[in-house]
Amino acid sequence: MIVETTNTIFFKRVTKNDIDDIVLIENESFKHPWKKETFESELNNPYSRFFIAKKENSPAGFIIYWDIPYEIHLINIAVRPQFRRMNIGSMLLGEMIKYAKDKKKHLITLEVRISNIGAINFYKKFGFKEAGIREKYYVDNDEDAIVMELYIYDKI
Ligand SMILES: CC(C)(COP(=O)(O)OP(=O)(O)OC[C@H]1O[C@@H](n2cnc3c(N)ncnc32)[C@H](O)[C@@H]1OP(=O)(O)O)[C@@H](O)C(=O)NCCC(=O)NCCS
Repeated sequence: MIVETTNTIFFKRVTKNDIDDIVLIENESFKHPWKKETFESELNNPYSRFFIAKKENSPAGFIIYWDIPYEIHLINIAVRPQFRRMNIGSMLLGEMIKYAKDKKKHLITLEVRISNIGAINFYKKFGFKEAGIREKYYVDNDEDAIVMELYIYDKI
């Protein structure tokens, strides 16, 4: 599936041929990047939906989320520094929210590092609310995670 978003930006499902591009995006985006094998294992995860965004055919960003019972869980999202604030993250997150609505999911959840103010603001723009703290969730530096959630439909 290829989704044209604008004349210059499109996104598509990730295949094994895209994994090196995903690793490039990841390494430019995080101080503690995931390993290549972690991304490869997502290709065999039946719950996983994994998209890459390209701008003028350059790898620009990706999103991974899991379709699990009753909810969607955002696993990872990143946009390369030179392509930020161009709406690419919003397009990727928008695809996830549309999917959640189409699948009649009630809830989207995610964890974000407590120091990642930019990402927290990004999620808030889409209506995500802080729901709690997971202490020392990130084992690389013992950082706490903020749990954020977005209710698509009212709580039952
Ligand atoms: C978070 C991230 C994916 C956002 O991607 P992006 O393509 O730059 O986001 P968009 O251009 O769609 O931004 C949409 C809106 O979100 C908000 N926003 C995005 N980045 C922000 C930042 N650094 N600080 C404050 N607000 C921000 C703004 O309201 C922005 O709208 P504006 O540009 O009109 O002001 C990107 O900054 C990134 O890859 N960060 C590093 C990786 C990361 O932290 N991932 C999240 C892990 S939980």
